[in-house]
Amino acid sequence: MTKQLLSVNNLSIDFLTRRGCVKALEDVTFAVHEGEILGIVGESGSGKSVLSYSIMGLSDPAANIRSGSISFKGVAVKPHNMADLRGKEISMVFQSPRTALNPIRKVGHQIEDVLRRHCSLRGKALRSAAIEALARVRIPDPERRYEAYPFEMSGGMCQRVMIAMALACKPSLLIADEPTTGLDVTTQAVIMDLIRELVVETNMAAILITHDLALAGEYCDRIAVMHAGHVVEVAQSNSFPNELKHPYTKRLFESLPSAADTLDQLAVIPGSLPDLRGTLPACRYIARCERAKEDCSLKPLPWTHINSNHVVRCRYPK
Ligand SMILES: Nc1ncnc2c1ncn2[C@@H]1O[C@H](COP(=O)(O)OP(=O)(O)O)[C@@H](O)[C@H]1O
Ligand code: SF4
Ligand SMILES: [Mg+2]
Repeated sequence: MTKQLLSVNNLSIDFLTRRGCVKALEDVTFAVHEGEILGIVGESGSGKSVLSYSIMGLSDPAANIRSGSISFKGVAVKPHNMADLRGKEISMVFQSPRTALNPIRKVGHQIEDVLRRHCSLRGKALRSAAIEALARVRIPDPERRYEAYPFEMSGGMCQRVMIAMALACKPSLLIADEPTTGLDVTTQAVIMDLIRELVVETNMAAILITHDLALAGEYCDRIAVMHAGHVVEVAQSNSFPNELKHPYTKRLFESLPSAADTLDQLAVIPGSLPDLRGTLPACRYIARCERAKEDCSLKPLPWTHINSNHVVRCRYPK
């Protein structure tokens, strides 16, 4: 059994808005182990980004952390203190590399900014560490690329630079929120192969957030499925889809690869996500579920432990 690196326990986050209180996450619980890639998949609006930003300590000021705790390397960290780990221990790759990079600053200097801020490097050590960071993500001729501006590079190269920046201080955890969306299929594979190689080489852990089920199945060791602000099932990816127990997860993955590879194209599950501003039943899938019984609306919604690697949040798992 590998060592647990991060655990998120019963995390609940609301957004207080003028149009009501959005219950974006409720009792979210999962763990990430050293040297693994954990996928977090879910339809648009299911809470993937709210979750990843909260792990980074980057929540919107309107976010109200109602309850929950996070522990990192066995030490409890208050959710709003997670920012202290950002950059050094935990770093993030965002969806669109072009907008995340400064267009008028050489990429080498942008990596040096990170090294200065988070790794306390100074002077000559900066340049060599930046070039080493570019080489680590297999950018050809890193000394020349150090001098390049983002506009001189392709989307795939810019994403490699973002990964180089994220890895510059050798974090223990990399969070990648839709890192390959918008890239062509070949570049997608190159970026994902690279993340996997780096995980294997350094024993770093990664959280891959995606709405692309096929991508998650191919690259992740375990997958957590989110629905309307709940994690509904976590299992090893090699047990997908045959051993799944939650009616939502089963339907999602059984429909692959015929209907669609990504959740946004998916039309096989009737109904839509509930309005997160209203009063919600214990199980937020109840209106869409063919197995629903009256007591499914009663709190608390139980977690069922199928085995040490497989949990499901459903009153009638099968
Ligand atoms: N700043 C915010 N204010 C109000 N609601 C928000 C805010 N950020 C996210 N939400 C709501 O939280 C829910 C989850 O959003 P998000 O995490 O972005 O979904 P995903 O990344 O899975 O597409 C959505 O209903 C979204 O409207
Ligand atoms: S708890 Fe009930 S309504 Fe919810 S998914 Fe399970 S069976 Fe369906
Ligand atoms: Mg998102």
